[in-house]
Amino acid sequence: MTAKLIKGTEIREEILEEVKAEVEQIKEKHGVVPGLVTILVGENPASMSYVTLKIKTAIRLGFNEIQDSQPEDISEADLLALVDKYNKDDSINGILVQLPLPKHIDDKKVLNAIDPDKDVDGFHPVNVGRLMIGGQEVKFAPCTPAGIQEMIVRSGMETSGAECVVVGRSNIVGKPIANMMLQKGDGANATVTVVHTRTKDLEGHCKRADILIVAAGVPGLVKPEWIKPGACVIDVGVNRVGEKISEKTGKKIAILKGDVDFDEAKEIAGSITPVPGGVGPMTVTMLMVNTLKSLKFKLGLM
Ligand code: GUN
Repeated sequence: MTAKLIKGTEIREEILEEVKAEVEQIKEKHGVVPGLVTILVGENPASMSYVTLKIKTAIRLGFNEIQDSQPEDISEADLLALVDKYNKDDSINGILVQLPLPKHIDDKKVLNAIDPDKDVDGFHPVNVGRLMIGGQEVKFAPCTPAGIQEMIVRSGMETSGAECVVVGRSNIVGKPIANMMLQKGDGANATVTVVHTRTKDLEGHCKRADILIVAAGVPGLVKPEWIKPGACVIDVGVNRVGEKISEKTGKKIAILKGDVDFDEAKEIAGSITPVPGGVGPMTVTMLMVNTLKSLKFKLGLM
């Protein structure tokens, strides 16, 4: 059997078209568009390329997009003052401070300074709490877990009553997605197990999973024989395992490998995300969804 591929690149396009249509409707009816500011400190090449993608996507959707680049040596106080300026700016619905920040800045302090109602990353403790409570309390789910849930739902997988095993317990992926999958509601209602580096029988837990979400950051950690035949496998791992020359551009590019042995796993799973082109494209997509949501909350449309 060959698994159905759950392609983030295709689901991204579906969602972005939906967002674009809604932005146009809101603009026509209410005369406003979502406003997103991305604050980038320093010149970390990976951060610069992420931010560029966020800006391009926001512009494509008709958002009001501000890129605010700051020097590497900006003081913590000045960065906090900048966040406060955007907290008070009525045209801004979403504030994103690109991580990592330079060592002299306490990233927790900065993230906690963002108005929770503009925290489109979903990293503020208030939004973490709202997510834990679930239901109508939730404003912004963090973007990667939100993308994972969308992929599961749009792939047609039944989540209610499913055994969902999450490999990894990070604050950004493992903990929030486990929490989201166990909530009451559509696309959830799963029985969730979280496994991690201290778990005794990783293999045994994985073998039970109808939905297996792997976010460990260890290339090839999950072996094909650990996958239950027909399971839905979501591989969040994006591990650089080497470099190659791109045939398209002639430039050096990273060779990426997931946390699951894809080539063999796809012969056992019912559906599976590839790496690259799986979960990766969903993070920026859900950032756009959250920014639109923020405007809708403000207008009383949600
Ligand atoms: N750096 C890498 N990924 C992210 C993300 O999702 N949000 C922010 N703010 N910084 C990041």
